[in-house]
Amino acid sequence: MRTKMVAGNWKMNKNLQEGIALAKELVEALKNQEPKCAVVIGTPFIHLASVSEVIKGSVIKLAAENCADKEKGAYTGEVSAEMVRSTGAEYCILGHSERRAYYHEDCDILREKVLLALKNDLKPIFCIGEVKEERESGKQNEVVKAQLEGSVFNLSAEDFGKITLAYEPVWAIGTGLTATPEQAQDMHAFIRSLIAEKYGKQVADDTTILYGGSCNAKNAAELFANPDVDGGLIGGASLKAPDFCAIIAAR
Ligand code: 13P
Repeated sequence: MRTKMVAGNWKMNKNLQEGIALAKELVEALKNQEPKCAVVIGTPFIHLASVSEVIKGSVIKLAAENCADKEKGAYTGEVSAEMVRSTGAEYCILGHSERRAYYHEDCDILREKVLLALKNDLKPIFCIGEVKEERESGKQNEVVKAQLEGSVFNLSAEDFGKITLAYEPVWAIGTGLTATPEQAQDMHAFIRSLIAEKYGKQVADDTTILYGGSCNAKNAAELFANPDVDGGLIGGASLKAPDFCAIIAAR
């Protein structure tokens, strides 16, 4: 049975004090809830070490939102996978469409980041997804396939098994335009079929595939009811503890 998961991606929101307060609120709220799925919060780099202390002993696991594509050295302003891991974070979100679009992260850069994350014992949450024009011209499957082939299908089956995938149609991110449950299920099933072709049915069955893009407390249950949708990667709705907890309860 593959892991079900609800993961938050705070993006560039919350100063340190606000982030610590939100983490504390989540720890308290989830104490009573006993979630039936893995719970991960993805925070900016500066929060990681502090939030790691706050969530100790709770069900919450920690993710960074990025890591460098270089191991160490003279790369001013960058944060390496090893540094991320040393904070206590266990996961690293990689390949987010905002990183691809605004920071020009292509398949080659992302392949390096995935390798460095794995080398440093960080589990990648690897994001893929098409933009609006690609969906409108029916190219979503080929786009997602190329993203997988470009950055993660080079891995051994053992390493691929450490990856969580997140299908995030770019047109649905922060827009309020959620993919329909059918669109999400179709794409997740397609992704799983690609994994089966590459690594075999067992690996495909064991891979956690999250949906992301305007997922909220209202639509989560409907999305998660699909057999190939194993949970969500949540942006806006992860910034408020009651909303995030309601999504966790829907999983
Ligand atoms: P929203 O939930 O705000 O649409 O963001 C989704 C996302 O990008 C998560 O990584």
